[in-house]
Amino acid sequence: MSNGNQNRDSFGSKIGAIAAAAGSAIGLGNIYRFPCVAGENGGGAFLIVYLLIILFLGIPIMISEFIIGRRSQKNTVGAFKVLAPKTGWSIVGYIGILCAFLILAYYSTIAGWTLEYIYKSIINNFAGKDLYAIKQEFNNFNNSAIRPLVWQAVFIFLTASVIIKGIKQGIEKYTKILMPLLLIILIILCIKSLTLNNASEGLKFFFMPDFSKITGKVFIGALGQAFFSLSIGMGALITYGSYISKKDNLVTTVTSVCLIDTFVAIMAGIIIFPAAISFGISPKAGDSLVFNILPMIFNKMTGGYIFCLIFFILLAIAALTSTISLLEVIVAFLNEELNISLNKATIYGSVAVFIIGLLATLSRRDGSILSFDNIIFFNILDYFTNNILLPTGGLLIIVFLGWKLSKKQFNDEITNGKTIKIALKNFIFFIIKFIAPFAILVIFINVIFPNFFANIFRTI
Ligand code: PHE
Repeated sequence: MSNGNQNRDSFGSKIGAIAAAAGSAIGLGNIYRFPCVAGENGGGAFLIVYLLIILFLGIPIMISEFIIGRRSQKNTVGAFKVLAPKTGWSIVGYIGILCAFLILAYYSTIAGWTLEYIYKSIINNFAGKDLYAIKQEFNNFNNSAIRPLVWQAVFIFLTASVIIKGIKQGIEKYTKILMPLLLIILIILCIKSLTLNNASEGLKFFFMPDFSKITGKVFIGALGQAFFSLSIGMGALITYGSYISKKDNLVTTVTSVCLIDTFVAIMAGIIIFPAAISFGISPKAGDSLVFNILPMIFNKMTGGYIFCLIFFILLAIAALTSTISLLEVIVAFLNEELNISLNKATIYGSVAVFIIGLLATLSRRDGSILSFDNIIFFNILDYFTNNILLPTGGLLIIVFLGWKLSKKQFNDEITNGKTIKIALKNFIFFIIKFIAPFAILVIFINVIFPNFFANIFRTI
C-alpha cells in the first residue's frame, strides 16, 4: 500500500472483489450473532424485518460505500477529504475508525473462542458430553485466568500478519477456496439439524412471523444486525472499495455479496433453531446458544469428530477475513493519513485493539468489576457499535452520496464511466437519496421515543 494512487493495491479480478467483500461480510456475525439476535427478537418476525432492511438499506448503503471508496481511492477518512475537501464530512470517516476499533476489540474475544474450540475439537473434548457439561466447560473457559486472553491475542496477531503481507495476496486467496467449503459444511449441518426430533418446531419459530412481536426493539435489533453482518456503516467497504478495479460492476458485486451473506445467516438459523428446540434450549438463550449447541449436533453425527474440527477451523477463518477488514480500516488510515509505515501502523493498531479487547474479554467473567448485573462491558460495546454507531455512520454515508456528491458522479461511478448499463440506476439513487435516510431516521425516532408514531397516528 502506498500514498500514490498508481501503486495502490487492487483486487485481482471480479471474483476477487466479491470474495474479499464476502470475506469481510461473512463471519461471526452470521453464524454466532444472527441466531442470538433473531432468537431474542421473536424469530420469524425478526427475519422479515431483517430481509427488508437488507434489501432497502443494506444494498444501497453497500453500493454507496463502494462508490465513495473507488472514486476517491482512499481510506475511510481520506475518502471524504478527497471528495468533499475542507468540509466537516471527514468526521464520518473518524466515526468509522472508532467503530472499527471498538468492534474489533470485542469481536476478537469471540474469534478467540473459535481457536479454543479448534483445540477442544482436536483433543476430542466434546465427545460423549451432554449439553450441561458442554455449557459448564464454556463457562469455565470464560472464567479461566488467561486462556481467553491468550487466544484473543493469537487471533489479533494472525490478523496483523495477514495485513502486513498485503491486501491482494492476503485476503483473496483464503476466501476464494475456503468460503465455498464453509458453505458445504453448513449445508450438511442444516440437513442434520432438520432430522432431529421436533425440528419442525424450530423451523416454525424461525420462519413463521408472529406480527404482534414486531416492535421498535425488533427494528433496531434487525438494523444493527444487518449493518454488522454486511460490514456496512463504518467504512470497511469504503476502504475495500478503493481496492476494487474500475472495471468491476458494483451493482452485481454488491448484490452477490448481500445474497451470500444473507444465505449464510439463514442457514445458521436453520441449523440452530431446530437443534435448540430439540435439545430443550430456549431460542432466546442468547449469546452462548451457538457455542453450546453446535458441539452437541456434531456429537450426534457420524463422523462428528472430523466435521467438528473442520467446521471450527473454517469458522475461525471466516472470522479472520472479517477481522482483517476491520483492522485494515485502522491501518489504512494510519498509513495514508498519518504517514505511519504499514508495519508500524499494523502494530500500533493491533496493540491498541488488544488493550480494549482485553477489557471486553475480562468483563465476561462471573462477578467481573467490568459488569454490573446484566450490563456487561462486552455487551455495551456490542450494543453501542451495532445499534448506534453503524446506523449513524450508514445514515451519514448515504446522505453524503445522495445530497453532497452530484448525481453525475454517482452515474459515472456506477456505470464505470458509461461503459456498462445499469438498469435500475435511477431507482437506486432515489432510494439512496430519499427512502433509506428516511427509513433509518424513523427507526431511530421510534427507539428514542417509543410511542412517537403511535401517538401521531392516534391524533390523525
Ligand atoms: N460482517 C462481519 C461479520 O458478520 C463483521 C464486521 C463488521 C466486519 C463490520 C467488518 C466491519 O462477522
